[in-house]
Amino acid sequence: MSGQQPLLVVVDDEQGILDVVGRFARRAGFDVVTCAGGRDAIAQLQVRRADLVMVDLRMPDVGGLDVLRAIREIDPQCQAVLMTGYSSVETAVEAIKLGAMDYLSKPLDFARVQQLLATVRDDIERRRSVFSLETDVARRLEFCGMIGRGPVMQELFGMIRRLAPHVRTALITGETGTGKELVSRALHSTGPRRDRRFVAVNCSAVVEALFESELFGHVRGAFTGATENKPGLFEVADQGMLFLDEIGELPMTVQAKLLRVLELGEVHRVGSLEARKVNVHVVAATNRDLRAEVAAGRFRSDLYYRLNIVEVKLPPLRERREDIPYLTAAFVRETADRLKKPLIGLTPGAERILASAPWDGNVRELRNVLERACILADGEFVTERELAVSMPGVPLAVAAPSSGNGSPGGPLRATSDSDLLVTVEREHIQRALVRANGNKKAAARMLGLSRRALYRRLERLDLGETISRRRDNSPDGLGA
Ligand SMILES: Nc1ncnc2c1ncn2[C@@H]1O[C@H](COP(=O)(O)OP(=O)(O)OP(=O)(O)O)[C@@H](O)[C@H]1O
Ligand SMILES: [Mg+2]
Repeated sequence: MSGQQPLLVVVDDEQGILDVVGRFARRAGFDVVTCAGGRDAIAQLQVRRADLVMVDLRMPDVGGLDVLRAIREIDPQCQAVLMTGYSSVETAVEAIKLGAMDYLSKPLDFARVQQLLATVRDDIERRRSVFSLETDVARRLEFCGMIGRGPVMQELFGMIRRLAPHVRTALITGETGTGKELVSRALHSTGPRRDRRFVAVNCSAVVEALFESELFGHVRGAFTGATENKPGLFEVADQGMLFLDEIGELPMTVQAKLLRVLELGEVHRVGSLEARKVNVHVVAATNRDLRAEVAAGRFRSDLYYRLNIVEVKLPPLRERREDIPYLTAAFVRETADRLKKPLIGLTPGAERILASAPWDGNVRELRNVLERACILADGEFVTERELAVSMPGVPLAVAAPSSGNGSPGGPLRATSDSDLLVTVEREHIQRALVRANGNKKAAARMLGLSRRALYRRLERLDLGETISRRRDNSPDGLGA
């Protein structure tokens, strides 16, 4: 594995070339691995991630063009340069088509070699420093755990700061994963009640029959099962803030009662006539269009107008793409720290993918994608490869069998890092098998594993069965 220094793999059957290129490269700040043939080089590249490969065209075992093909398969992010004493336009074109960044003819022009090494090294350094800059900027522009560099979010942070001292009720709207809960917490933690309770209730998670009792409490004997007096969340949150998440899910009957509490500042426990004074600030959130819900008769207009006196609208991530690099930097840093991985950023190709993805699941989706990609990545940079596996846009073949983790086609869910790791690994391997059309040897090569190592993993991940049944082309047969 490359440490802080970029890694160069030089491949040539001529010892003299290995020596001289190696010397230049070390001087230019590279770690160097030398290989006397193509076969050895491919084996090396399967176990360590190189930043640059310089490879001779003609070698007795496996030739330079085959090595280029292998690099494309193993690590498309790795840069490659072909060296040859038999230059022809055809091989040059072929090499470039296979993704080589350059083509050197022998005898080598050392000035060009030096220049090339410097270019590759500078490129790597640039990516590292851009990334650490973005992480710093992200930190500095953070507001109550929210990252937002662009004008939209900066404006929103300013608005929250101005509102927080005064709001008693607020409505936060925005698509799923845009940060509504973070905003509500920010209103609490920058407001006058920051030392009082913040009580969150997710309206979609409460059983309809229990809503009233949950919010307003009940007295003993109010209904079957009410064996004790119980305060509701309004009483629990007295003097503090109550966060009603997914308010659009609140049943009409409860909506009427909620409105009363907001207007009169008192609650009745279910089964009691006694009014109890409560002083609660209420922040509600929804990803529904409440105005449309009102029009459709599913949400009370009086409650809606009462709540939206202050409305904070969170824009979807696709409308503030300028924040993506900063969110990315922060999430990668966070995951890398947690997993103790040496990750320092993304390759330019991977950045491009993130910059243009639709992000229907907004910041939450970005965060999940990066978390999965970071788990898969084994160098310093998250590459397109890991993203391809981690982005839900690319349908994954399968449900995770037996362990009960994950659901078919659904978002990856795991209860712990190690669960997530297993799920991700399983999906990664299954995907390779599908791509390799069930051919274990090819799948192992794609995964950079020996065949034996692949078998061991298949055993461990309960995928043994999968393979023997994997003969047709449809991914559906997998793991079911
Ligand atoms: N601006 C941001 N900076 C950093 N992290 C963010 C930001 N916005 C959202 N997140 C993260 O994205 C995830 C989703 O945020 P949150 O739960 O606040 O979204 P939400 O709008 O309440 O979503 P839902 O409607 O699905 O409940 C969380 O992990 C949160 O930390
Ligand atoms: Mg939420």
